[in-house]
Order: sequence, then C-alpha cells, then structure tokens
Amino acid sequence: MPDSLVLTRPDDWHLHLRDGPALATVVPHSARQFARAIVMPNLVPPVTTTQAALAYRDRILAAVPDGLSFDPLMTLYLTDNTDPAEISTAMASGHVPACKLYPAGATTNSDRGVTDIANVSDVLAEMEKQGMVLCVHGEVTDAAVDVFDREARFIDAVLIPLLRDFPSLRVVFEHVTTADAVQFVSAASSRVAATITPQHLMYNRNALFTGGLRPHHYCLPVLKRETHRTALVDAATGGDRRFFLGTDSAPHARYAKEADCGCAGCYSGYHALELYAAVFDAAGALAALEGFASHHGADFYGLARNTDTVTLERAGHVVPAAFAYGDDELVPLCAGETLGWRLRTH
Ligand code: NCD
Ligand code: ZN
Repeated sequence: MPDSLVLTRPDDWHLHLRDGPALATVVPHSARQFARAIVMPNLVPPVTTTQAALAYRDRILAAVPDGLSFDPLMTLYLTDNTDPAEISTAMASGHVPACKLYPAGATTNSDRGVTDIANVSDVLAEMEKQGMVLCVHGEVTDAAVDVFDREARFIDAVLIPLLRDFPSLRVVFEHVTTADAVQFVSAASSRVAATITPQHLMYNRNALFTGGLRPHHYCLPVLKRETHRTALVDAATGGDRRFFLGTDSAPHARYAKEADCGCAGCYSGYHALELYAAVFDAAGALAALEGFASHHGADFYGLARNTDTVTLERAGHVVPAAFAYGDDELVPLCAGETLGWRLRTH
C-alpha cells in the first residue's frame, strides 16, 4: 500500500464559492488543492450575464492567497429570459466555458431557473453551435414525485429529449447520485459526462438520520440508498473518462444549516481531495484517482491538463470543527473526524 501519492494537480468541475465575506474563507481552501474550478452561478441575484460573471471572477481572484494560482471558470445561470446573444459574449471572454441549467425550484437559489426547456431552446442551440458546455442539475421539480426519485425521473422526462433535440450539445449531468444516472451516462456518447461529489461516494441516506437528524449531511440531490452509493464508487473508480471530480462544495452558515428549515449543501471545499483519496483507497483503486480528479474533466472541457502536481500522504489528521464564516461559522463535512489522507503543502 503506497504511503504517498503524486497526482497531476486536480480541478473541481462543480463548486459553489458564494460571494462577499464567504470568499475569504472558502477560496483559499479550494485554491490549495485545485488549479481550476467550474464556479456555480447561483448567487442572489444569480449570475446571468458575462459582465456579472467577470466581475464575480475578479472578486474570487482577489481572495486567492499570494503564491497560489487558481483559475475560476465561470458559468452563466440560465433563466427563461436568457438572451441567445449572451452565449457568444461569454465564449469570447475566454473565462466562461459553461452555462448552468437549474430547473426552477430544484435547489438552493434556483427560483429564477428554467421553468420549461422550450424557453431556452434558442440559447441551447447557440451553445451547441459554439461548443459551450451545459451543466445540468438533473432533478425534476414536480412536488408529486418522491424526492428520492427525482434524479431518475429527470433522465426520461428531460435529459433524453434534451440530448435528442440538441445532438451535438455537450452536457454534464451534475452531481449524479443514482445507479440509474450512472447507467445512463455509461451508455451515452462521449458528449455526455457526469460529476460525482465526495458525500455521495461516502454516505448513503442512513447518514441523514444517524442517532438523530444530521443537517450537515443534507444536500441536493439528497443522499440515496447503499446500492446507489456503490454504483457511484464503481463509476468513479472504474476509469471511465465520462466520470470526473466535482465536489459540489456548497457552504452555508451554521445558522442556515441547523435550522427548522435547513439549507441543502455540504461543505467539502476544505478537504475534498483527501475525502476522495479515502474513498478510492477503501475501494482499492488509488491508481484511478488521478484520471478522475485531474484528467477526465479537463479532457471533456477541451482544456489542457495541469502540469504541476500535488502530493497526498497517508497521515491521520483531524478536520476542524468549524471555520469562521462572515459573522457566523461554517461546519465542514466530517467536522471533528480523523481523515487518513492529507494533502502535503509545499
Ligand atoms: C447547492 C447550493 O447550496 O448552492 N446545494 C446543494 O445541496 N448541492 C445547490 C446545488 O448544487 O444543488
Ligand atoms: Zn451544486
């Protein structure tokens, strides 16, 4: 068993950094591990224009610690009113390689999302033409559909028609959580890919209720059964180039998580790579970590792989109980627990 592992520096293909004082907490954590990240646009108000995305990018860059280099890859939040002309502006900027499709009401700050795919068909056609990637939150929003079934239902109800209507559009099925999604992506063409989070690889839905209600394990899509978790581990560790790292690190202040209507989102930005390493190690698949974390995503997005490296070492360390976060605190995934892998900082 190797005691250290050198990887091409990884990228995070799905990340929430928030804005304002939050940036000072979370940007250094991500920049320590990742060279680039696809930054989600679900701010309040959402990032719907290239101009807003570039201004947000500057605020993120201002929070990168000296000596680290971090390239935020920005996304636009699609609404029913997105102007198709915005797509060429975004592509021309060189900093906005993707748009994000939130079905309206699916998750945190998705109220202004798309109510019907037909409303963005001109935008999707333009993205297809220009080679822009579409990142999709893959859950139906119909309140009559059981929350545990919303991802599987999305495949037939939305994704298959979308891929049929836009046959060259490149699509990332974000944060997949089910065996259904894994099977679908595995059987799809190479223009379809999926990101997988650490929490969906580590936990099944029992983790929401261990000894009581566990708000820090609540995210969307919600954790699923053990059979789904093992399908995700097989997909992540199996070497298939269509599956890659996307933490979906989604920080919320403690008061917003530990509440009578707590927000969805797990904070893994501090230690994501170490969490993934533990999962791959437990699966006996450390050799597959580099492809998943550092190669497949860059290849899918058509970007050069990073050339520098990071080193992980087998060494126990305790995850802090919380971080300062604006006026409140941010509780990370596995707070207070001991992790078996540590990122060496040079
Ligand atoms: C995300 C957030 O808080 O922005 N929450 C989550 O549970 N994953 C939104 C999202 O990606 O669904
Ligand atoms: Zn997300």
